[in-house]
Amino acid sequence: MPSPTWDSLWVNVNLASMAPGAGPYGAITGAALAVAGDRIAWLGRMADLPGAPATLARVVHDGAGRWMTPGLIDCHTHLVFGGDRAREFELRLGGASYEEVARAGGGIVSTVRATREASEDELLATARARLAGFLREGVTTIEVKSGYGLATEAELKMLRVARRLGDIRPVAVATSFLGAHALPPEFAGRQGAYVDLVCDEMLPAVAASGLADAVDAFCETIAFTPEETTRIFTVATRLGLRVKLHADQLADLGGAALAAGFGALSADHLEYTSAASVRAMAGPGTVAVLLPGANYFLRERQMPPVAAFREAGVPIAIASNCNPGSAPVLSLLLMLSMAATLFRLTPEEALAGVTREAARALGLADRGILAPGMRADLALWDIEEPAELAYWIGRNPCRAVVSGGVLRETPA
Ligand code: NIG
Repeated sequence: MPSPTWDSLWVNVNLASMAPGAGPYGAITGAALAVAGDRIAWLGRMADLPGAPATLARVVHDGAGRWMTPGLIDCHTHLVFGGDRAREFELRLGGASYEEVARAGGGIVSTVRATREASEDELLATARARLAGFLREGVTTIEVKSGYGLATEAELKMLRVARRLGDIRPVAVATSFLGAHALPPEFAGRQGAYVDLVCDEMLPAVAASGLADAVDAFCETIAFTPEETTRIFTVATRLGLRVKLHADQLADLGGAALAAGFGALSADHLEYTSAASVRAMAGPGTVAVLLPGANYFLRERQMPPVAAFREAGVPIAIASNCNPGSAPVLSLLLMLSMAATLFRLTPEEALAGVTREAARALGLADRGILAPGMRADLALWDIEEPAELAYWIGRNPCRAVVSGGVLRETPA
């Protein structure tokens, strides 16, 4: 008998491949999927398998009619931080706005204090604990930003923690340097000097370290101006780093169009993005990353222009934005529900937003859909139909996760 070609084979699964142009969810029912090494080797209908399962693979898993999707991708998080901001939450519930808290020296700057004080190992331990919930929900790739260090060594410390998370846990970590997240207190009244530091010292150090996969910035009335953002992106681009931007969250500063002008991977938030900016994003394929958790938690009434993104063909991704200030969110599945109810995405768009389009927002062309040659990042769900992933609130139907070809856990 010939030796099996594949390392593992999943039989009796329904695949939501999320392949574009392959019908709703790219679904293939009554299907099988084969893994060789860290790649998907084959997928199709059971009837088209080229032999009996046991002869084809060393290990055969029976999916028992469950749905399999690409492993989920959370493309915008601030997972690494010190402390929390529960007290600020109470202040906001008492009437203070996010901007007022920030201008009074709270907000991001208070997390900067706690993050600077924490050791690398302490940050790793708290981030690892937060990561656990995402892994249980089928997340196989997660983006992690710096941005609470705001000094060269403290920013590098955050990025090292993010990379270490990917070493110690079975998840791929994409990192973004976010030195232009807020003005650190020691630069009060000297914003230009801080931007000089970001451009002249931090960006070259970050690029040389290899610790960042992209450069992010917060272009906002309470953060950095479009001109400052342009300076930072010009240096980042010269250093060979792709860019992405926190844009138009609290006001329309033309941030999304600015990002698109740099061929940004994504522009994120986008509640106040104008029609002109939407059009600007379409050309370079800049992904609109929507963050319903922040919209909910800050009680924002302005909704991102979803219909305009659809009409212009701008890809839409969804992310948790896990952070202590605007989105203490530890569930990506909950974001599917919120994207559907708050932003009126269809459940299929929401699932594409945490698979195919989230991969695009990270510039990762080898994941986010189920197809031969793609990374074998898979999630198996105890659901009758894919829409349930956006439907249930507080239920985790994930039953198995394969990360880079390795079956990593089978949550109860
Ligand atoms: O994406 N908007 C800026 N950054 C975060 C908030 C960070 C914080 O408040 O600590 C966000 O919402």
